[in-house]
Amino acid sequence: MEQRNAGNPIRCKAAVSKAPGQPLEMEEVEVAPPRAHEVRLKIICTSLCHTDITFWRMKDFPGMFPSVLGHEAVGVVESVGDHVQEVAVGDTVVPVFLAQCGECPDCLSPRSNICSALPYRPGGMPRDGTTRFSLAATGEPVHGFLCVSSFAEYTVVDVAHVVKLPAGPELALPPEKACLLSCGVATGVGAAWKVAAVESGSTVAVFGLGAVGLAVAQGSRMRGAKRIIGIDLNPGKFEIGTPTGKKLGVTDFVNPNDIGDKNVSEVIKEMTGGAGADYCFECIGLVSVMAEAFKSSRTGWGKTVVLGVDGSAAPVSVPSFDLMRGRSVVGSLFGGIKPKDDIPVLAHKCLDKELELDDFVTHQMGFHEINRAFDLLTQGKCLRCIIWMDGACSEENGCS
Ligand SMILES: NC(=O)c1ccc[n+]([C@@H]2O[C@H](COP(=O)([O-])OP(=O)(O)OC[C@H]3O[C@@H](n4cnc5c(N)ncnc54)[C@H](O)[C@@H]3O)[C@@H](O)[C@H]2O)c1
Ligand SMILES: [Zn+2]
Ligand SMILES: [Zn+2]
Repeated sequence: MEQRNAGNPIRCKAAVSKAPGQPLEMEEVEVAPPRAHEVRLKIICTSLCHTDITFWRMKDFPGMFPSVLGHEAVGVVESVGDHVQEVAVGDTVVPVFLAQCGECPDCLSPRSNICSALPYRPGGMPRDGTTRFSLAATGEPVHGFLCVSSFAEYTVVDVAHVVKLPAGPELALPPEKACLLSCGVATGVGAAWKVAAVESGSTVAVFGLGAVGLAVAQGSRMRGAKRIIGIDLNPGKFEIGTPTGKKLGVTDFVNPNDIGDKNVSEVIKEMTGGAGADYCFECIGLVSVMAEAFKSSRTGWGKTVVLGVDGSAAPVSVPSFDLMRGRSVVGSLFGGIKPKDDIPVLAHKCLDKELELDDFVTHQMGFHEINRAFDLLTQGKCLRCIIWMDGACSEENGCS
């Protein structure tokens, strides 16, 4: 495919976050051409993850304004900068917030997915920290977000942050499914599969039944977990609505509002014959719940995996004796998955129907409705809203 705008800025629409917690404003922005090791993408669709909400609400650094948020997406390569060989114009790719340079000690080790060559630089591109966005009217720079910035018709992403999808007609994953693999669902499935390595027959407790928590449930079910206890304040996440927690693998539900004076950990111990869960996952982002998840885990081998992002970065307190008695706690970005190696594996599992993603897409809408997605997620009324850049979901834009 010809690189029509290659080397030139593109003017397009972006939903710009201008102040903490305020609705995004649709602006004309200029998207600079990709520099060396970068690619410019035309976004097909994007979705909203709770991490966008956390940063959108942040009054202080690393909250940054104005910015282009968004980090779950799928796009087509529009042009490439120098030294980009891995993808070509016209390729469909999933941009991801974690880099995989493929050469640093972390990328070369199976023990880490935190690329040490390209650490996260708030607001900018990973290699030079600068942004590729500016307001078309004034030239004012607009910060990027998580190296993706997908709430724009076009964005520039480092080649270490893009994953090429399996190609070929029978291997074409619908864009709304590929989009889910860009962050939340891949994180949840990855945490069960790679971080916890859930064993068959085990009991799992999932704190927070958003897309991340329900993906943990599905990943745990795929690994043969016998019992999956979901904990959420919102009963809608379990019984009500189309995508029920039950359908996605949750076998038991605990609502902290319905257990009187008891703590959730006491209830989970009761439910497990006094032992506690083999694996606990925190998928909310509250340090108090992280400690409660740890308390709910079993002595001897109980493992707690922290996935939720607590914006205050407060410390988690756990009793040292419990650590000595065999319990452990570990955190994970992106569920331990290495984007370029593992997203194609998850894509194949979707194509084989081993991993079912239909129920995670609760709403679809056009780009101009993006603030509605913020309302739905903050009110707990959706799992993932797919936002189509070319309007609403239709056969034309590849939505099935
Ligand atoms: N580690 C990572 O790489 C990674 C990746 C994606 C998302 N995240 C984080 O994972 C978390 C979940 O993301 P999501 O998109 O699924 O969010 P979400 O808003 O869809 O889901 C959160 C769920 O937690 C429930 N909840 C809130 N407070 C609760 C409480 N005190 N007790 C029980 N339930 C409670 C809500 O009702 C909701 O169902 C967020 O913190 C997000 O930032 C982390
Ligand atoms: Zn995310
Ligand atoms: Zn690396």
